[in-house]
Amino acid sequence: MTERSAFVVVANRLPVDEVAAEGGREWRRSPGGLVTALHPVLAAHQGTWVGWAGGTDAAPGPFDVDGIHLHPVPLSGDELEKYYEGQSNATIWPLYHDAVEPPMYKRSWRDAYRRVNARFADAAAEVAADGATVWVQDYQLQLVPAMLRERRPDLRIGFFLHIPFPSIELFMQMPQRVEILRGLLGADLVGFQQRLAAQNFIRLARHLLGLRYVGQTVEVDDRRVKAGAFPISIDTAEMERMGADPEVQARAKQIRKELGDPKTVILGVDRLDYTKGIEQRLKAFRELLAEDFLSVPDAVMVQVATPSRERVEHYQTLRVKVEREVGRINGEYARVGVPAVHYLHQSYSRAELAALYRAADVMMVTPLRDGMNLVAKEYVAARGDLGGALVLSEFAGAASELKQAFLCNPHDPDGVKDALRRAVTVDQVEARRRMRIMQRHLRSHNVERWANTFLTELRGEA
Ligand code: ADP
Ligand code: G6P
Repeated sequence: MTERSAFVVVANRLPVDEVAAEGGREWRRSPGGLVTALHPVLAAHQGTWVGWAGGTDAAPGPFDVDGIHLHPVPLSGDELEKYYEGQSNATIWPLYHDAVEPPMYKRSWRDAYRRVNARFADAAAEVAADGATVWVQDYQLQLVPAMLRERRPDLRIGFFLHIPFPSIELFMQMPQRVEILRGLLGADLVGFQQRLAAQNFIRLARHLLGLRYVGQTVEVDDRRVKAGAFPISIDTAEMERMGADPEVQARAKQIRKELGDPKTVILGVDRLDYTKGIEQRLKAFRELLAEDFLSVPDAVMVQVATPSRERVEHYQTLRVKVEREVGRINGEYARVGVPAVHYLHQSYSRAELAALYRAADVMMVTPLRDGMNLVAKEYVAARGDLGGALVLSEFAGAASELKQAFLCNPHDPDGVKDALRRAVTVDQVEARRRMRIMQRHLRSHNVERWANTFLTELRGEA
C-alpha cells in the first residue's frame, strides 16, 4: 500500500531532473524556487509531490529524493501533445497572458486536459492522508481542485496560479470556461500573484455562475472559497550567496573579458517565450545603436533564451523572429570577432546565471505580460555589490514590488528605449540607492514567506 502524507503538492512537473551518474542515471532535485520553498514543509510532514517525471515512457514507480516522496504521473505521447502542448500551452497560456498570441481552441485538447487532470486528482487522492493539506499548482491543473474534492471531501485544498488571471472578457472566450471556473472553486483557497487577478476571479464567479461574494470570499453551495494575492518570490539568501561567491565573481570577470571588456553589458535571460518581450528589447537596442547613443564594441548585448515548448507553433514562429532580429542587428553593427548581440539558445547552471547577473550593467526584463518574473528578482538579489541597473516591464508582476527599477511599457518602443537609456546613464549613487531598496524588500519578501503565508491562510490560521 502507498504511504500516505499529511502534506501533498500537485504540480505538472516533479521537482527533479534525471541526470547521468556513475553507473547509470539518477534523479536530482531541480534548483527551482518552488521546491526550495516547499522542501522544509515537505520534509517536516513526510510530504509527497505528485507530478509528471518528463518523457512519455512508462512512469517510474514512487521514489524518494532528499527526504521528499515523489509520486510520478505518466503522460502518453498523445497526451503530451493535447494536454501539455495543446490545451495548457496553446490555449490557456496565451489566453491568460492577455492573448498576446491568439489562443487556439480544440475539443480533443479539452478532452485530454480533463483526462489528465483526473489522473492527477486520482494520484493526489491516493497519497493524501485523512484530513491532509493538498496544494495544487498552476494552469495545467485547474480542474484538479474540484475533482479532488469530489474524491476526498475530507481534504484541505489550496490552488496557486503562477501566471496572470485574465479579465472577464478574455476568460469568456474559453469553451471550457464553466468547467475551469468550477474546477478552481473546488479549492478552499485560490491564490494569485496580483490583487487584480484575485478580483477578476471573484467577479467572474458572479458573472458566470451568479455566485455571491463578500469581500474576497465566494459562496459556493454550502462552502466558502477564499481568493487572495500571494506574490511569489525567490530564495533570496541563496541568490545573495551565489552572487557573493568568489568563483562566481571570477567567472563574471571572465565573461566580461570574453565579451571584449565593453563599457556596457546589457543582459536578457528568459525562456524563449513570446510573452517575454525579447523582440521588443532587441529592437530598442538596435535603435539606440542606429542613433549612435550606443555603439559596438563599447556596448554589447547578451540574450540567453532557454529552449521551451519547442513543438508548439507560436514558439517556433517566435524563434524564427528573434533569430532574424539578432541576425539583422549583427549584420549591421557587429565587427569581425565582435558581435553586437550574443544570442545563446541554451540552458545554464544556476552558478553561470549568477555570473551573468554579476557581469551585466543593465538587465532587461521586458515581458508583455508575466505573472511575476523571477529573473528580475534573481538579478537584484545577485547584486550584493549594489552594481547594475534593472529595466523592468510594468506588465510583470514583479513591477508592483521592484518599484525602483527603470519601469517601462514594452508595447511602447520609445518607452523601452528611454528606460534603457536611463539605466545605461544612471549615476552610481542613484543606481546603488535603487538596488539597496529593492534588495531590502526581497530579503523579507522571499519564497519561504510566500509559502508560509499561503499555507497559514489555507489552514485557516491567519
Ligand atoms: P518563467 O517561469 O515564465 O520561465 P521566471 O522568470 O519567473 O519565468 O522564471 C524563470 C526561471 O528559470 C528563473 O529561476 C531563471 O533563473 C530560470 N532560467 C531562465 N533562463 C534560464 C537558463 N537559460 N538556464 C537556466 N535557468 C534559466
Ligand atoms: C512557467 C509556468 C510553470 C512552468 C514553467 C516552465 O513558470 O508557470 O508552470 O513549469 O513556466 O515551463 P514548462 O512548460 O517547461 O513546464
